Amino acid sequence: MVAQIIDGKAIATTLRKEIADKIMARNKQDIRQPGLAVILVGDDPASEIYVRNKRQACEEVGFKSVYHQLPAATTQDELNTLIQTLNQDASIDGILVQLPLPSHIDSDNVIEHIDPNKDVDGFHPYNLGRLAQRRPLLRPCTPYGVMTLLDSIQTVYKGREAVVIGASNIVGLPMALELLSAGCTITVCHRLTENIEEHVKKADILVSAVGSPGIIKGNWIKPGATVIDIGITRLADGKLAGDVEFQAASERAAWITPVPGGVGPMTVATLLKNTLIAAQAKDAAAGIY
Ligand code: GUN
Repeated sequence: MVAQIIDGKAIATTLRKEIADKIMARNKQDIRQPGLAVILVGDDPASEIYVRNKRQACEEVGFKSVYHQLPAATTQDELNTLIQTLNQDASIDGILVQLPLPSHIDSDNVIEHIDPNKDVDGFHPYNLGRLAQRRPLLRPCTPYGVMTLLDSIQTVYKGREAVVIGASNIVGLPMALELLSAGCTITVCHRLTENIEEHVKKADILVSAVGSPGIIKGNWIKPGATVIDIGITRLADGKLAGDVEFQAASERAAWITPVPGGVGPMTVATLLKNTLIAAQAKDAAAGIY
């Protein structure tokens, strides 16, 4: 078997075009642009690149984009005060605080200061709780983007074995909740899991979000499985690598995402989708359709 590629780049491009078309339609009806505020604290080079991509994507689809780049020495109070201001700003529909934050800032506390209706990352405990209760509002971008990829290949979820590698609050855990909501039987592996291989071998749907190149061996993949690789690491030679041994896994899987060009583009496209959802919810609450 040679796996078919799930082309995240193409699916993300289609999604971005659909959003741009919706914004044009809003413009024609004189409905305001959705607004996204992005906050970066410090000068981590990788975060700067992620933030630049998000802002660019925003502008391309016709959103209002507001950027706050704050010094690394910003205090927790200063950051929370800025968030409160943006919570009150009627032109802002989404607030994104790029993670990780400098170590003197408590990220959980910052996330809890974001109005859940503007939490386009879906990280606020309210939004995570809604997802856990199978009645999601704003859904974390990467797992939601993965569900869009899985839907695009008509994945059958009900009763199938889904194995998620990684249990972070922002990716692995909400990914498991998404797959549970969709009807899968889920296993979540994490740093204390003793025999990851044994779990991977039974996965009909495998999602890896570790960030350790090649940690998932190709010969562990169940024949006919769907393999989603969220991990992305820059190697010493400058190339990007996923968690899964791509070539060997492709010989056993039915479907597989490449790295790059798989999940990555979906995260940004889904952020745009969430911002539009937040704007539409606000407009509907105000009686504008
Ligand atoms: N850092 C790594 N991934 C993300 C993400 O999806 N959102 C935010 N805010 N920070 C991140």
